[in-house]
Amino acid sequence: MEAVDTLVIKTPKKSPLVLRMAFLLFATFCGFYIYSMSLKQMNSRNKTKFINIKVLDHDVQSCHGSADLQQTELPYVHYPNPQTFRREECACNPVRYFAILSMQRSGSGWFETLLNSHMNVSSNGEIFSVRDRRLNISSILKTMDQVYNLDWFTSASKNECSAAVGFKWMLNQGLMEHHQEIVEYFNRNGVAAIFLFRRNLLRRMISVLANSYDKDAKLLNGTHKSHVHSPVEAKILAKYKPKINATLLIPELKQTDETSAKAIQYFNTTYHIVLYYEDIIKNRTKLKDLQEFLKLPYRELKSLQVKIHTAPLSSQVDNWDDVQTALKGTSYETFLNADY
Ligand SMILES: *[C@@H]1O[C@H](CO)[C@@H](O)[C@H](O)[C@H]1NC(C)=O
Ligand SMILES: *[C@@H]1O[C@H](CO)[C@@H](O)[C@H](O)[C@H]1NC(C)=O
Ligand SMILES: *[C@@H]1O[C@H](CO)[C@@H](O)[C@H](O)[C@H]1NC(C)=O
Ligand SMILES: *[C@@H]1O[C@H](CO)[C@@H](O)[C@H](O)[C@H]1NC(C)=O
Ligand SMILES: *[C@@H]1O[C@H](CO)[C@@H](O)[C@H](O)[C@H]1NC(C)=O
Ligand SMILES: *[C@@H]1O[C@H](CO)[C@@H](O)[C@H](O)[C@H]1NC(C)=O
Ligand SMILES: *[C@@H]1O[C@H](CO)[C@@H](O)[C@H](O)[C@H]1NC(C)=O
Repeated sequence: MEAVDTLVIKTPKKSPLVLRMAFLLFATFCGFYIYSMSLKQMNSRNKTKFINIKVLDHDVQSCHGSADLQQTELPYVHYPNPQTFRREECACNPVRYFAILSMQRSGSGWFETLLNSHMNVSSNGEIFSVRDRRLNISSILKTMDQVYNLDWFTSASKNECSAAVGFKWMLNQGLMEHHQEIVEYFNRNGVAAIFLFRRNLLRRMISVLANSYDKDAKLLNGTHKSHVHSPVEAKILAKYKPKINATLLIPELKQTDETSAKAIQYFNTTYHIVLYYEDIIKNRTKLKDLQEFLKLPYRELKSLQVKIHTAPLSSQVDNWDDVQTALKGTSYETFLNADY
């Protein structure tokens, strides 16, 4: 009897709520549907415009003008309005967008840990190492939209108080292929390009070969590691001495050299800085330049990573004599003796 009573009494109370909920859901659904249709239309009509509008829409408009900024800085600051969380007290702190453009084994992993040691920096790793994300320019731009709107989550994503957000991008991950659209995107959205290259391309080559060998050999107790945090691990990895094909050596060094020069040229209209791994190792003031470039409050940057190849090059290559012979008298000869 009681059960019936409850049923009778509660039904009139419940149904308006259920109805209201249903209506709300329906309205939400309609809203989304119209929104997505209009996006689709805009997308097919003009792709460039679609992205432009979307990023601007996400900006918190009321924040513009709240920070004390110079006119020249305005294109580079943003007030993202993430869909996945609220920026709380930092909603009107300006955020700058950046991308670390580099090549494998150029110190970019180490460099990124340095940047991420800054409490206001979120550098989200090598997000385009996943092939699906770089299959075509639409997926590349969509991924970047998500990262720059602070809606991308990695272990490096910080709290709501990020002042600079970005990721690292290898030149061979769709960057060179789609450079034109990417440069347009960078310029349209004020993305700062941070080039990080290695001067000693011979050392880089050795690191590439050793890292590639370790993918199969897994020298550290059966796990492959590209970066290490202890001298013991570094020593184990450095034990492997690759053999370098002396015939291909010069053409490969040349190609690497040309690729980085080309990349800098492609991006010459963007706001950019070119850094070299060796320079940062030798001169920590370069990290100050970098923070000024990103207009970050200055911090001492730290990394826990340990360099793998520290010994002189001659003891790190199996066929050192061949390598020496091949490089003597060429513009790459200095690579033989450089410390880093
Ligand atoms: C797309 O928009 C850009 C910039 O507003 C414009 O230059 C271009 O002509 C447009 N393209 C098409 C196909 O409408
Ligand atoms: C781009 O690639 C994604 C997969 O990442 C795919 O879903 C989408 O259909 C592709 N778009 C075009 C225009 O080819
Ligand atoms: C950096 O982060 C701290 C703590 O989260 C915050 O108080 C500060 O406002 C942030 N600075 C900038 C420039 O966003
Ligand atoms: C590998 O495993 C051995 C035995 O479990 C351990 O003593 C050693 O520290 C490990 N080495 C590394 C580099 O992790
Ligand atoms: C070096 O590479 C070339 C081209 O792939 C190959 O023909 C040659 O046999 C290689 N030399 C050695 C010593 O492996
Ligand atoms: C960028 O490079 C192109 C091609 O070499 C050149 O025409 C252009 O003047 C350069 N622009 C700037 C701003 O340096
Ligand atoms: C270190 O870098 C700074 C900034 O780039 C530069 O001004 C300075 O001359 C460098 N010092 C040395 C010893 O190279």
